[in-house]
Amino acid sequence: MSKFVIILAVVVTCLSQQLAGIDGAGLRNGPLSLYEQHLFKRQAKDSNDENAGLYDQNDSVISLNAGNLKEKVFGQPHASLVEFYNSYCGFCRRYAPIWKQLASDILGWQKLVKVTALDCSRDENNAICREFEVMAYPTIRFFAPYYEDGAQKIGEPVTAHAEAEVINALIEHMQNVTQKPAGWPDFTPLESDAPREQLFNPTEARPDPPKYAYLINENEINGTTVGSQVMLDLLDAPLAVVKRTKETSEPSGLKVIVGDSMSEIKLPVDEFSRAKVTSAIRKHLSEHHIRVTEVATKPNNKDSTTEENISDIMEKKQEEALRVKMKELGPAIVYQADLEEAIKFALFHEVTRFKKIDGERLLALQRFMNVLVRYFPFNENGMKFLKEVRQYVLNAESEIGAEDYSNQIKKLEQNRSPVFASNRWMGCSSTKDGLRRYPCGLWTLFHYMTVQAAESEISTDPLEILQAMHGYIKYFFGCSDCSTHFQQMAARNKIWNVTSKDDAILWLWSSHNEVNRRLSGDATEDRDHPKIQYPSIEMCPECRKQKLTNHHNHRQYTLDDANEWNLLEVSTFLKRVYSYNNRNQLGLWDANLLPQPLARTGGGGADSYHSNRSFGNVLNEMDIRMGALLYVACIVMLLIAVKMVVKRGYRKKMYAHDILGKV
Ligand SMILES: Cc1cc2nc3c(=O)[nH]c(=O)nc-3n(C[C@H](O)[C@H](O)[C@H](O)COP(=O)(O)OP(=O)(O)OC[C@H]3O[C@@H](n4cnc5c(N)ncnc54)[C@H](O)[C@@H]3O)c2cc1C
Ligand SMILES: *[C@@H]1O[C@H](CO)[C@@H](O)[C@H](O)[C@H]1NC(C)=O
Ligand SMILES: *[C@@H]1O[C@H](CO)[C@@H](O)[C@H](O)[C@H]1NC(C)=O
Ligand SMILES: *[C@@H]1O[C@H](CO)[C@@H](O)[C@H](O)[C@H]1NC(C)=O
Ligand SMILES: *[C@@H]1O[C@H](CO)[C@@H](O)[C@H](O)[C@H]1NC(C)=O
Repeated sequence: MSKFVIILAVVVTCLSQQLAGIDGAGLRNGPLSLYEQHLFKRQAKDSNDENAGLYDQNDSVISLNAGNLKEKVFGQPHASLVEFYNSYCGFCRRYAPIWKQLASDILGWQKLVKVTALDCSRDENNAICREFEVMAYPTIRFFAPYYEDGAQKIGEPVTAHAEAEVINALIEHMQNVTQKPAGWPDFTPLESDAPREQLFNPTEARPDPPKYAYLINENEINGTTVGSQVMLDLLDAPLAVVKRTKETSEPSGLKVIVGDSMSEIKLPVDEFSRAKVTSAIRKHLSEHHIRVTEVATKPNNKDSTTEENISDIMEKKQEEALRVKMKELGPAIVYQADLEEAIKFALFHEVTRFKKIDGERLLALQRFMNVLVRYFPFNENGMKFLKEVRQYVLNAESEIGAEDYSNQIKKLEQNRSPVFASNRWMGCSSTKDGLRRYPCGLWTLFHYMTVQAAESEISTDPLEILQAMHGYIKYFFGCSDCSTHFQQMAARNKIWNVTSKDDAILWLWSSHNEVNRRLSGDATEDRDHPKIQYPSIEMCPECRKQKLTNHHNHRQYTLDDANEWNLLEVSTFLKRVYSYNNRNQLGLWDANLLPQPLARTGGGGADSYHSNRSFGNVLNEMDIRMGALLYVACIVMLLIAVKMVVKRGYRKKMYAHDILGKV
């Protein structure tokens, strides 16, 4: 009988391995079945495709990519405005509606100028954004018609962001165009003494002589582009011609010259603006039975509904299962997947944006690599990879070319492959595409490292992590307004006066809360992840205490309500949430790269875990051989057991709970 029990135990254990595959997402350390690995891989790929940036067919912005940018903007018989953006940058998200509005507002000019956008956060666009020297997001550039490819041919910068100002800048550039395609308007203002009759001569572009000539007088102290904009709006209006004048003796306004009689009539406009002047002209034309077709405000959009096939449904189910599991685990969890995705994006994407890395920027990269090697929780391949990258950036004499860097780290990753066990965001995933993700991962990474540094004895420098973070954010973080804000906040909150590693944890925590407060209710807020003063009461009731009257608390550490922070508890809470052992493996697809079972790291002090963290994270060769052996044994036992069970008609329920790890 006891033999039978042993066999059963083995069978249960074996089966639980198999079941873990089915319920892989649910088990903390459960390896995923091959099928699931396949699903996760596909998912990562698909969600990338889905995340086609901030613009789609429903708006008037033309999405470009590395493959077609040059083809679409170089050597064309029209001008182009290109927005180089980054879909994870909050400012770009807030800016997208403005860019769409602009594109739609000047869609009528599309024969002459196209409004486009390119997402620099996509891997495949990395090189092209570097080539075009995109250093901040969003970057707007103007490309004239017949713009030629060549060295330093990166377009003319448009520094304005507000719609009206971008249009002003665009008009200025269009007025300056020297190589004019056919149909390009002549923006030169009509001289006071120029004979008016010449306006009614037929031209090549306009074989029917016009009946009406509209003169828009621009007399504004600061200059105006109203006349030019109206010219563009009415470029195709039949039997009409529009010209600018610059009569200083007359106020800004609109006049019409009737071709038949050459009489000049003043046309009233409520306001000297593009919209009012254009509509006054349209009204006048329609009163004279000339129909001007309205320009479309949106291009025809195709309905892009596709049939859901079975594999899509399977993937949705899988995704849903992960979401449910994450909800169960609650918000106070750090996912290994997020930490890995964050450094993957940083090292392979963000750092590679610069043509060369030198001076302070190089120093910042060296510091960043140094803290990663010290505190990043990685598997054995990953650790080797990080050390090699660090060595590479430390060896640099005075500068590294981005091309070299890019090639080098790709090579190093390939040599150690597989390095990353992640291929998707977990805790930092988002219900709305493009939100959260990388910036969320970056915060998580640095919080994690402040806690790890405080728990370890590797360094006594209280500023180690904060300095690495400050440098990284200043020199590499692609969200430029975030970077500026962060530097201002660092100065205001006296980052360099932090005197202990525990204070570094709290400094970052309170500064992050300051950002949360500022962004609360912002367009970048994900409805499922509101910007709160962290941690919430639910997450940590003891982190808040009743405010004592007359007690003057530090400004950084106050709360809006009747409470104030209990810093000791906050510190304890953060050390628990951002601890090595609190990381969760959910969503990792590469079973071989799962860090070691939690029991092995021990709950112990910093020493014990740092001594084995570099080596213990992956199953060593011995484990793998043992695993294979056990697997074979399993199958044999299974066969025997099945035989026995069938013989005796024995039935037993089997559960897949935490038996793993005993194997
Ligand atoms: C350095 C930096 C500066 C930024 N500045 C700006 C800016 O100026 N403008 C802008 O629009 N966006 C800025 N961002 C992006 C913004 O802060 C968020 O990262 C982004 O909007 C995603 O928000 P989220 O909801 O995922 O949570 P995040 O704020 O990214 O937080 C990630 C996770 O950290 C945890 N957390 C939250 N608060 C704390 C805390 N106080 N202490 C410890 N853990 C916490 C939570 O689990 C949360 O889910 C910045 C990002 C970084 C890294
Ligand atoms: C475009 O708009 C239609 C109708 O409003 C909508 O059904 C469709 O999902 C939209 N497409 C995209 C890509 O957003
Ligand atoms: C257009 O040309 C004028 C005169 O050469 C110059 O002063 C101005 O800066 C140019 N504007 C732009 C936007 O290039
Ligand atoms: C012109 O510009 C100046 C300074 O840029 C500004 O103070 C002024 O209000 C502007 N005038 C008009 C009429 O817009
Ligand atoms: C911060 O440090 C500087 C230099 O060490 C010192 O002069 C200053 O008083 C400190 N500020 C605070 C608020 O501690």
